[in-house]
Amino acid sequence: MDGRSPNHGGLSRGNILDSVRACLDRLQTDRIDLLYFHRFDASEPPEESLSAVDGLVRQDLVRYFAVSNFTVANLKLYQRLEADFGVRCRVQAVQNRFDILHGEGNRCPGVLEYVARAGLSFVAYGPLARGLLTARHLDPAKAGPGDRLYDESALDRDMAGPVRDRLLGLAALACEWDLELSQLALVHLMALPGMGPPIPSASSVEQLESNAAAGRVEFTDDQRAQVRAVLETR
Ligand SMILES: NC(=O)c1ccc[n+]([C@@H]2O[C@H](COP(=O)([O-])OP(=O)(O)OC[C@H]3O[C@@H](n4cnc5c(N)ncnc54)[C@H](OP(=O)(O)O)[C@@H]3O)[C@@H](O)[C@H]2O)c1
Repeated sequence: MDGRSPNHGGLSRGNILDSVRACLDRLQTDRIDLLYFHRFDASEPPEESLSAVDGLVRQDLVRYFAVSNFTVANLKLYQRLEADFGVRCRVQAVQNRFDILHGEGNRCPGVLEYVARAGLSFVAYGPLARGLLTARHLDPAKAGPGDRLYDESALDRDMAGPVRDRLLGLAALACEWDLELSQLALVHLMALPGMGPPIPSASSVEQLESNAAAGRVEFTDDQRAQVRAVLETR
Protein backbone atom coordinates (compact mmCIF):
# COMPACT_ATOMS: atom_id res chain seq x y z
CA MET A 1 0.00 0.00 0.00
CA ASP A 2 2.91 2.39 0.37
CA GLY A 3 3.53 2.09 -3.37
CA ARG A 4 7.27 1.76 -2.85
CA SER A 5 8.04 -1.89 -2.31
CA PRO A 6 6.69 -5.23 -3.56
CA ASN A 7 5.90 -6.29 0.01
CA HIS A 8 3.31 -3.54 0.36
CA GLY A 9 0.78 -4.86 -2.09
CA GLY A 10 -0.49 -8.15 -3.48
CA LEU A 11 -1.27 -11.41 -1.76
CA SER A 12 2.03 -12.54 -0.25
CA ARG A 13 1.88 -14.06 3.23
CA GLY A 14 3.88 -11.13 4.63
CA ASN A 15 1.61 -8.51 3.15
CA ILE A 16 -1.61 -10.26 4.22
CA LEU A 17 -0.44 -10.65 7.84
CA ASP A 18 0.95 -7.10 8.05
CA SER A 19 -2.19 -5.64 6.44
CA VAL A 20 -4.56 -7.46 8.78
CA ARG A 21 -2.57 -6.32 11.83
CA ALA A 22 -2.57 -2.73 10.57
CA CYS A 23 -6.30 -2.95 9.86
CA LEU A 24 -7.14 -4.24 13.36
CA ASP A 25 -5.06 -1.42 14.74
CA ARG A 26 -6.75 1.26 12.62
CA LEU A 27 -10.23 -0.06 13.41
CA GLN A 28 -9.37 -0.54 17.09
CA THR A 29 -10.96 -3.97 17.07
CA ASP A 30 -9.79 -7.50 17.77
CA ARG A 31 -11.25 -9.30 14.75
CA ILE A 32 -12.37 -8.77 11.15
CA ASP A 33 -15.81 -10.16 10.29
CA LEU A 34 -15.21 -10.47 6.55
CA LEU A 35 -11.79 -10.22 4.94
CA TYR A 36 -11.67 -9.54 1.19
CA PHE A 37 -8.87 -10.06 -1.30
CA HIS A 38 -9.33 -7.02 -3.55
CA ARG A 39 -8.21 -8.81 -6.71
CA PHE A 40 -6.48 -11.98 -7.87
CA ASP A 41 -2.68 -11.85 -7.70
CA ALA A 42 -1.06 -14.03 -10.34
CA SER A 43 2.42 -13.25 -9.01
CA GLU A 44 1.96 -15.13 -5.71
CA PRO A 45 1.30 -18.85 -5.26
CA PRO A 46 -2.38 -19.04 -4.23
CA GLU A 47 -1.49 -21.76 -1.67
CA GLU A 48 0.61 -19.15 0.17
CA SER A 49 -2.22 -16.58 0.22
CA LEU A 50 -4.82 -19.11 1.36
CA SER A 51 -2.64 -20.59 4.09
CA ALA A 52 -2.03 -17.07 5.46
CA VAL A 53 -5.79 -16.47 5.73
CA ASP A 54 -6.29 -19.96 7.15
CA GLY A 55 -3.89 -19.08 9.97
CA LEU A 56 -5.77 -15.85 10.66
CA VAL A 57 -9.09 -17.74 10.79
CA ARG A 58 -7.64 -20.32 13.20
CA GLN A 59 -6.53 -17.45 15.49
CA ASP A 60 -10.03 -15.91 15.22
CA LEU A 61 -8.57 -12.68 13.90
CA VAL A 62 -10.70 -13.19 10.78
CA ARG A 63 -14.16 -14.79 10.82
CA TYR A 64 -15.03 -15.12 7.11
CA PHE A 65 -13.16 -14.84 3.85
CA ALA A 66 -14.23 -13.39 0.49
CA VAL A 67 -12.70 -12.21 -2.77
CA SER A 68 -13.27 -9.38 -5.21
CA ASN A 69 -12.82 -8.88 -8.96
CA PHE A 70 -12.36 -12.62 -9.42
CA THR A 71 -13.08 -14.49 -12.65
CA VAL A 72 -14.71 -17.92 -12.78
CA ALA A 73 -11.25 -19.45 -13.40
CA ASN A 74 -9.84 -17.66 -10.31
CA LEU A 75 -12.72 -18.96 -8.19
CA LYS A 76 -12.36 -22.51 -9.43
CA LEU A 77 -8.65 -22.47 -8.61
CA TYR A 78 -9.28 -21.26 -5.04
CA GLN A 79 -12.06 -23.79 -4.51
CA ARG A 80 -9.87 -26.64 -5.74
CA LEU A 81 -7.12 -25.61 -3.31
CA GLU A 82 -9.61 -25.28 -0.44
CA ALA A 83 -10.65 -28.87 -1.06
CA ASP A 84 -7.08 -30.18 -1.55
CA PHE A 85 -5.65 -28.52 1.56
CA GLY A 86 -8.72 -28.62 3.80
CA VAL A 87 -8.31 -24.96 4.75
CA ARG A 88 -10.87 -23.26 6.99
CA CYS A 89 -11.03 -20.10 4.91
CA ARG A 90 -13.46 -21.12 2.21
CA VAL A 91 -14.57 -18.27 -0.06
CA GLN A 92 -18.03 -17.18 1.12
CA ALA A 93 -18.69 -14.25 -1.18
CA VAL A 94 -17.48 -12.60 -4.35
CA GLN A 95 -17.60 -8.81 -4.62
CA ASN A 96 -17.73 -8.01 -8.34
CA ARG A 97 -19.19 -5.22 -10.41
CA PHE A 98 -22.86 -5.57 -11.35
CA ASP A 99 -25.75 -3.30 -12.18
CA ILE A 100 -28.97 -4.08 -14.02
CA LEU A 101 -28.09 -1.89 -17.03
CA HIS A 102 -24.65 -3.33 -17.77
CA GLY A 103 -24.68 -6.69 -15.97
CA GLU A 104 -21.24 -7.99 -15.03
CA GLY A 105 -19.37 -6.23 -17.83
CA ASN A 106 -16.70 -8.11 -19.76
CA ARG A 107 -13.91 -8.39 -17.20
CA CYS A 108 -15.37 -11.18 -15.07
CA PRO A 109 -18.21 -12.71 -17.13
CA GLY A 110 -20.30 -15.61 -15.84
CA VAL A 111 -19.42 -15.18 -12.17
CA LEU A 112 -23.01 -14.55 -11.00
CA GLU A 113 -24.18 -17.76 -12.63
CA TYR A 114 -21.22 -19.68 -11.19
CA VAL A 115 -21.81 -18.24 -7.72
CA ALA A 116 -25.50 -19.19 -7.85
CA ARG A 117 -24.59 -22.80 -8.68
CA ALA A 118 -21.77 -22.99 -6.12
CA GLY A 119 -23.92 -21.63 -3.27
CA LEU A 120 -21.76 -18.53 -2.73
CA SER A 121 -22.98 -14.96 -2.38
CA PHE A 122 -22.46 -12.30 -5.07
CA VAL A 123 -21.91 -8.87 -3.50
CA ALA A 124 -22.57 -6.29 -6.23
CA TYR A 125 -20.40 -3.20 -6.21
CA GLY A 126 -21.41 -0.21 -8.33
CA PRO A 127 -25.05 -1.44 -8.25
CA LEU A 128 -26.33 2.04 -9.19
CA ALA A 129 -23.91 2.25 -12.14
CA ARG A 130 -22.01 4.89 -10.14
CA GLY A 131 -25.08 7.15 -10.01
CA LEU A 132 -26.44 6.57 -13.52
CA LEU A 133 -29.33 4.45 -12.20
CA THR A 134 -30.84 7.40 -10.34
CA ALA A 135 -33.32 10.05 -11.38
CA ARG A 136 -30.67 12.80 -11.51
CA HIS A 137 -29.43 11.96 -15.03
CA LEU A 138 -32.78 11.66 -16.78
CA ASP A 139 -32.40 15.24 -17.99
CA PRO A 140 -28.74 15.60 -19.11
CA ALA A 141 -29.17 19.38 -19.22
CA LYS A 142 -29.42 19.35 -15.43
CA ALA A 143 -26.05 17.60 -14.88
CA GLY A 144 -23.26 19.94 -13.86
CA PRO A 145 -20.11 20.44 -11.78
CA GLY A 146 -20.25 18.60 -8.46
CA ASP A 147 -22.12 15.73 -10.06
CA ARG A 148 -19.84 12.69 -9.94
CA LEU A 149 -20.39 11.35 -13.48
CA TYR A 150 -20.26 14.88 -14.92
CA ASP A 151 -16.99 15.60 -13.08
CA GLU A 152 -15.52 12.32 -14.38
CA SER A 153 -16.62 13.28 -17.96
CA ALA A 154 -18.37 9.89 -18.04
CA LEU A 155 -21.92 10.96 -18.85
CA ASP A 156 -21.75 10.97 -22.66
CA ARG A 157 -20.06 7.55 -22.68
CA ASP A 158 -22.41 6.08 -20.08
CA MET A 159 -25.56 7.40 -21.78
CA ALA A 160 -24.60 5.92 -25.16
CA GLY A 161 -26.81 3.57 -27.20
CA PRO A 162 -30.17 2.60 -25.77
CA VAL A 163 -29.23 3.50 -22.16
CA ARG A 164 -31.24 6.73 -22.01
CA ASP A 165 -34.43 5.07 -23.29
CA ARG A 166 -33.99 2.23 -20.83
CA LEU A 167 -33.50 4.67 -17.96
CA LEU A 168 -36.65 6.55 -18.96
CA GLY A 169 -38.57 3.25 -19.15
CA LEU A 170 -37.34 2.17 -15.73
CA ALA A 171 -38.14 5.60 -14.28
CA ALA A 172 -41.72 5.32 -15.58
CA LEU A 173 -42.12 1.91 -13.88
CA ALA A 174 -40.59 3.24 -10.65
CA CYS A 175 -43.03 6.18 -10.68
CA GLU A 176 -45.98 3.81 -11.26
CA TRP A 177 -44.86 1.62 -8.33
CA ASP A 178 -44.15 4.59 -6.04
CA LEU A 179 -40.42 3.90 -5.89
CA GLU A 180 -37.31 5.86 -6.76
CA LEU A 181 -35.44 4.72 -9.86
CA SER A 182 -32.44 3.79 -7.68
CA GLN A 183 -34.70 1.66 -5.47
CA LEU A 184 -36.15 -0.17 -8.47
CA ALA A 185 -32.59 -0.90 -9.63
CA LEU A 186 -31.66 -2.39 -6.25
CA VAL A 187 -34.89 -4.39 -5.78
CA HIS A 188 -34.58 -6.00 -9.22
CA LEU A 189 -30.89 -6.75 -8.72
CA MET A 190 -31.35 -8.35 -5.29
CA ALA A 191 -33.83 -10.90 -6.67
CA LEU A 192 -31.39 -12.33 -9.25
CA PRO A 193 -30.28 -15.91 -8.45
CA GLY A 194 -26.97 -15.93 -6.56
CA MET A 195 -27.24 -12.27 -5.58
CA GLY A 196 -26.35 -11.39 -1.99
CA PRO A 197 -26.33 -7.91 -0.47
CA PRO A 198 -25.42 -5.09 -2.88
CA ILE A 199 -23.22 -2.29 -1.55
CA PRO A 200 -24.39 1.02 -3.05
CA SER A 201 -22.42 3.94 -1.71
CA ALA A 202 -24.25 7.06 -0.53
CA SER A 203 -23.28 10.71 -0.36
CA SER A 204 -25.99 11.70 2.12
CA VAL A 205 -28.13 10.21 4.88
CA GLU A 206 -31.16 10.58 2.56
CA GLN A 207 -29.48 8.41 -0.09
CA LEU A 208 -28.50 5.84 2.54
CA GLU A 209 -32.05 5.65 3.90
CA SER A 210 -33.55 5.43 0.44
CA ASN A 211 -31.17 2.60 -0.54
CA ALA A 212 -31.78 0.71 2.70
CA ALA A 213 -35.56 0.98 2.22
CA ALA A 214 -35.21 -0.93 -1.07
CA GLY A 215 -34.32 -3.98 1.05
CA ARG A 216 -37.93 -4.16 2.25
CA VAL A 217 -39.46 -4.32 -1.24
CA GLU A 218 -40.05 -7.44 -3.34
CA PHE A 219 -41.34 -7.50 -6.92
CA THR A 220 -43.95 -9.91 -8.25
CA ASP A 221 -43.10 -12.10 -11.25
CA ASP A 222 -45.07 -9.69 -13.43
CA GLN A 223 -43.11 -6.68 -12.17
CA ARG A 224 -39.80 -8.47 -12.79
CA ALA A 225 -40.92 -9.30 -16.32
CA GLN A 226 -41.78 -5.63 -16.94
CA VAL A 227 -38.31 -4.55 -15.76
CA ARG A 228 -36.65 -7.19 -17.95
CA ALA A 229 -38.65 -6.01 -20.98
CA VAL A 230 -37.45 -2.42 -20.48
CA LEU A 231 -33.84 -3.58 -20.06
CA GLU A 232 -34.09 -5.32 -23.45
CA THR A 233 -35.27 -2.14 -25.26
CA ARG A 234 -33.16 -1.55 -28.38
N1 LIG B 1 -14.18 -4.19 -5.02
C1 LIG B 1 -13.89 -3.22 -5.85
O1 LIG B 1 -12.95 -3.31 -6.64
C2 LIG B 1 -14.75 -1.97 -5.88
C3 LIG B 1 -14.62 -1.08 -6.94
C4 LIG B 1 -15.44 0.07 -6.95
C5 LIG B 1 -16.33 0.29 -5.91
N2 LIG B 1 -16.40 -0.60 -4.88
C6 LIG B 1 -17.33 -0.36 -3.75
O2 LIG B 1 -18.66 -0.39 -4.23
C7 LIG B 1 -19.44 0.54 -3.53
C8 LIG B 1 -20.30 1.36 -4.45
O3 LIG B 1 -19.65 1.72 -5.62
P1 LIG B 1 -19.81 3.10 -6.36
O4 LIG B 1 -19.93 4.21 -5.39
O5 LIG B 1 -18.72 3.17 -7.35
O6 LIG B 1 -21.16 2.97 -7.22
P2 LIG B 1 -22.74 3.00 -6.92
O7 LIG B 1 -23.06 2.50 -5.58
O8 LIG B 1 -23.34 2.38 -8.11
O9 LIG B 1 -23.10 4.57 -7.04
C9 LIG B 1 -23.07 5.38 -5.92
C10 LIG B 1 -23.45 6.80 -6.31
O10 LIG B 1 -24.83 6.85 -6.67
C11 LIG B 1 -25.42 8.01 -6.13
N3 LIG B 1 -26.48 7.56 -5.22
C12 LIG B 1 -26.42 6.58 -4.28
N4 LIG B 1 -27.62 6.41 -3.68
C13 LIG B 1 -28.46 7.30 -4.25
C14 LIG B 1 -29.83 7.62 -4.06
N5 LIG B 1 -30.59 6.96 -3.18
N6 LIG B 1 -30.37 8.61 -4.81
C15 LIG B 1 -29.64 9.27 -5.73
N7 LIG B 1 -28.32 9.02 -5.97
C16 LIG B 1 -27.74 8.04 -5.24
C17 LIG B 1 -24.33 8.79 -5.40
O11 LIG B 1 -23.82 9.75 -6.33
P3 LIG B 1 -23.34 11.20 -5.84
O12 LIG B 1 -22.11 10.93 -5.00
O13 LIG B 1 -23.03 11.92 -7.12
O14 LIG B 1 -24.46 11.78 -5.03
C18 LIG B 1 -23.30 7.74 -5.12
O15 LIG B 1 -21.98 8.24 -5.11
C19 LIG B 1 -18.51 1.36 -2.67
O16 LIG B 1 -18.69 0.95 -1.34
C20 LIG B 1 -17.11 1.00 -3.17
O17 LIG B 1 -16.16 0.93 -2.13
C21 LIG B 1 -15.64 -1.73 -4.85
